[in-house]
Order: sequence, then structure tokens, then C-alpha cells
Amino acid sequence: MLADKRILLVMSGGIAAYKALELIRRLKERGASVRVVMTKAAEEFVTPLSAGALSGDRVYSDLFDLTAEHDIGHIKLSRDADLIVVAPATANIIAKMAAGIADDLATNVLLATDKPILLAPAMNPRMWANAATQRNVAWLKGERVFTVGPNVGSMAERGEFGPGRMAEPMEIVAAIEALVAPAPDAAPGPLSGRHVLVTSGPTHEPIDPVRFLANRSSGKQGHAVAAAAARLGARVTLVSGPVTIPDPAGVSVVRVETARQMLAAVEAALPADIAIFAAAVADWRVATEAEEKLKKGPAGVPQLNLVENPDILASIGRHPSLRPKVVIGFAAETENLVANASAKLQRKGADVIVANDVSPETGIMGGDRNHVRFVSATGVEDWPEADKAAVAAEILARAARLLAG
Ligand code: C5P
Repeated sequence: MLADKRILLVMSGGIAAYKALELIRRLKERGASVRVVMTKAAEEFVTPLSAGALSGDRVYSDLFDLTAEHDIGHIKLSRDADLIVVAPATANIIAKMAAGIADDLATNVLLATDKPILLAPAMNPRMWANAATQRNVAWLKGERVFTVGPNVGSMAERGEFGPGRMAEPMEIVAAIEALVAPAPDAAPGPLSGRHVLVTSGPTHEPIDPVRFLANRSSGKQGHAVAAAAARLGARVTLVSGPVTIPDPAGVSVVRVETARQMLAAVEAALPADIAIFAAAVADWRVATEAEEKLKKGPAGVPQLNLVENPDILASIGRHPSLRPKVVIGFAAETENLVANASAKLQRKGADVIVANDVSPETGIMGGDRNHVRFVSATGVEDWPEADKAAVAAEILARAARLLAG
């Protein structure tokens, strides 16, 4: 719920602006107050009248509107908000934000604010793929700027298909809730007083002082799981391998590099009521890490002698005394998804395996969306594709039920 939350919605000019009207409705239904700033280009797509009617407030668009500057002003507009949402966020407004340009009310608000900003990009797939846009988004994303979408789909332009569609209004609402939900200890939830342990990210297994074995895990799904647990009121320990995404709010993070460090950190964090192993732990490590950097030379190519890493999920899932009541693992597969996941359920002593297809064409590894099968003793459920935050929220809802049951 978003009762008493103040959202400043910045609409820039894209065909997806009509979906931002729906977003206003959804936010109002949840008790949020919504103020709207529109760019001139946005007004070409939807009228300030419709946005104003839905938000129940006047719509702000002119930097030089003296009355507004007098009693509101762009600084106050941003100061009065808990979160600024830019939807649709065009390539143009993203570029202006990245460059620090402020040439209208919307960009002045965005430049002046110290509040978190959620971008819902919407543009042609080629504009999204353009190196300039990717660089701008990567540069902006960090502690205070977040993104939801874009989704993959067909575009308003005929025959165009790819990533660029603005996230659906309910996906944006879920992302907003994730950002502005009250601090976990302030809000009792179904997991209040419970300890949830989550692993996330890849592991790095050193070869020598400068090289390591790793994988493409971004940590996005695991971090979203930790955030979802915190939102249900749990005390959360997140044991994370090396990632570049920010720590989730209200979670205590233990940073590790290798599988063995991850196992040690997990054991140190026990006991827990629920453990969710979302990390993509390296299966193997190099038997002996070279003390000096390996050199090219007449001896030829070095032979890497690999040994197996400890299986963290299996050792906790089968722990004689410290097994949490609910143990959930993930299975990233490129083939035989369900059969492999079911086998893992048994072998690793898990209550649930969340299986996803990480074939490169799915874009799941490193992406913002996920399509999972929820595999438990009672059967296999194929969940619809969704934002990783939404998948995480559902996993936690199920974990809470298993804990209570
Ligand atoms: O066997 P596989 O690596 O596919 O199993 C995936 C599940 O097991 C994930 O939940 C992962 O976090 C966990 N795992 C682990 N330690 C390992 C390997 C996998 O905890 N060494």
C-alpha cells in the first residue's frame, strides 16, 4: 500500500504517456498522492486536463509560471515528494538527466532533487540499444536512480520489436512500492521476528592474484528476494558475491568472493527460519591458487586443475541440526529445466526449487525479468513472466506460508 506516499510523476513525450494515465489511477487507488509534471512533448500525447483530472491536482509544466514559482517552485515540487517517477522516460530526458541539462520544469526538478528517482524507459528498441542511451542509463543508475523496464515487445511503429516498451502500470506500481515501502522494523509484517537468510550474486574463484573464474549472475533476483523479505518485516541477512547493484534497503549485507567464504558466512548467519539460495555459486575452483600472476612462457599454456566447491544449499538443506524450516534453492538451467529441478529438490534437501531457463536468448541472466517454474513436492507451477521484484514478492509470500504451515 502507498497510503500517505507522495509521488511526483514526470511525464516526458512518448506514445506510452497514455499508460502513465493508468499509472496515476493505480497509485491513487493505493492511497498515494500524485503530482504531475509534464514536458511540452508529453502534452502532444495526452492533455494536462486528463492527467490533472486523474491526479486531482493541477498539472505543472511551465518553468516560468510565476504563480507556481512563487508558491511551489521546482525545488519545492521535488522536496514535497517521497519519490520521483519518470514515466514515460524518453531517451531524450534520460540523456538530459545524465548530462545535467535543465531546460524546462521537468528537467529542473530532476536536476534539483535529492529524492530517489524511478525511470520507466520507453522508446524505440534501436534508441534503447544505442550506446549513448545505454551509457546514460548505466551512469545514472546507482544509489538514487532506479529503473523499471523497458519490456520486450512490439512497438507502436509497425514491424518494430525488441526492448523499449514501457513497463506496465502495475509493474511500475510494484517498483514504486519496493522503493518507498516503510522501513521493515517500523512495519510489522507476516515475517516480523523471523530471520531470513539469502545468498545472491556470483562467486569469484581466484586463479592467481589477478584472474578468477566467474559467471554472468548480476545478483538482481537474489537482491530482490532479500528486499521482499525485508518488506514482510523479516530480519534479513544477505550473503552476496561480487555484484555492482546497490544493497537492498533494510537488509544486513555480508560481502564474500568465493564459494568457501559464502558457505562460511552462511553458517555464521544461522540459525534462520527461511533460507533462500539464489546465488550462482561456482561449481569448481582452481585446486591451488597461484601466488604470483601466471606468466606466458616456454613452459606452454598453464593447466587449470579444478576441484569441486562445497554445495552450500545441499549442506544447509541436509544440515543435521541447523536446517531452517524452509529451504529454497534456485536452478539455472539451459536444458531439461523441470527434470533437473525436481532432481535437485531431492538431492539438495530443499523444499522448493525455483527453476529458470538461462539460455542466452531468454535474457534472464543479468536482465530485469524472470520466467520461473516453482517446483516443490506438490508439483510444478509455471509462473507468468514478470519483473524480478514481482517474482521475489511471490516467492516470499509462498515461503511465509510454508513457514506458517
Ligand atoms: O546444482 P546447481 O548449481 O544448479 O544448484 C543451484 C542451487 O544450488 C542454487 O540455489 C544455488 O544457490 C545452490 N548452490 C549452492 N552451492 C553450490 C552450487 C549451487 O548453494 N556450490
